[in-house]
Amino acid sequence: MKADNVLEVVDLKTHFLTEEGTLPAVDGVTFSIPRGRTLALVGESGCGKTVTSYSILRLVQSPGRIVGGQIRLLPRRGEPIDVAQLAEGDEHLFHIRGGLVSMIFQEPVAALSPVHTIGAHLAEALQLHEEVSRAEARRRAIEILRKVGIAAPERRVDQYPHELSGGMRQRVGIAIALICHPELLIADEPTTALDVTIQAQILHLIKSLQRELGCSVLLITHDLGVVAQVADEVAVMYLGRIVEHGPVREVIKHPRHPYTQGLLQSIPALNVGRRLASIPGSVPPLNAIPSGCPFHPRCPFAQPGRCDVGGPPDLRTVSTGREVACVRAEEILP
Ligand SMILES: Nc1ncnc2c1ncn2[C@@H]1O[C@H](COP(=O)(O)OP(=O)(O)O)[C@@H](O)[C@H]1O
Ligand SMILES: [Mg+2]
Repeated sequence: MKADNVLEVVDLKTHFLTEEGTLPAVDGVTFSIPRGRTLALVGESGCGKTVTSYSILRLVQSPGRIVGGQIRLLPRRGEPIDVAQLAEGDEHLFHIRGGLVSMIFQEPVAALSPVHTIGAHLAEALQLHEEVSRAEARRRAIEILRKVGIAAPERRVDQYPHELSGGMRQRVGIAIALICHPELLIADEPTTALDVTIQAQILHLIKSLQRELGCSVLLITHDLGVVAQVADEVAVMYLGRIVEHGPVREVIKHPRHPYTQGLLQSIPALNVGRRLASIPGSVPPLNAIPSGCPFHPRCPFAQPGRCDVGGPPDLRTVSTGREVACVRAEEILP
């Protein structure tokens, strides 16, 4: 039986074609998101998470370009759409952005205009995709504000962004993303700008709204600690490629890629009473990607002549539902 996916990304390549050369920010990424499920895309800063999510909405700006692969959206109704193939002004894109697929941004402040009320933002988002009267738009705005946990929504709807706290503004960002009932919600580091207690609230909110509204979620984060609470599956990204993929619980309990192991060892909440270790070195720039396994210079298990030669290892199935891009995966079981 074919899985009921809302999104299938196949061998996506999004490169920046600069004067100094080609920067492969996303270089052969494959994943799918089943309907109603949450996939977390995890990795250090600069690994290509945002470029992946922008590719799905076709928001990548020049000199960035999708140079290969497919981004198949499979709406409940209607034909599948390969977003990668759409021309810039294609009307499908208009229906996709904020309609079929919507996005919560990292900086809620930047996404809100200071001169418009919360209600005006919500009405605008709604009226882009549905023909509704002003009274109906207001009713729907109040309804979605209540859903995202904003108290006294009848009053808040007429306030301006500066009258709200950071956490509340992010709730408004979520309300804007959800008002048209998207089938896929992309949340790119939705809690990074917020303080820790608010972070947990926002993640729980996303999770409960997902259940209630039945949408799928692509959750992007650099923090493997948060995915355990929210996601069903996790894909770990390093230098534009997925290096490990599987069910969240299994990946966290038995990480198979040394990069995933390193990420997990650096999370305080998962290592109470143990010494924290950080991954040595830093992510190399895209114009100096190491030969062989791109992670080998930072890898405690790297073997000369084996891990540092040839091209990057393929992502391969190591057990049911588990994929790892490491030639030593079987030898280095934790
Ligand atoms: N406009 C651009 N021009 C050149 N390189 C870019 C541009 N935007 C992003 N990149 C590069 O693409 C890579 C992936 O970036 P990004 O997707 O933002 O990482 P992440 O979201 O995982 O932190 C980084 O190396 C970044 O420097
Ligand atoms: Mg990012």
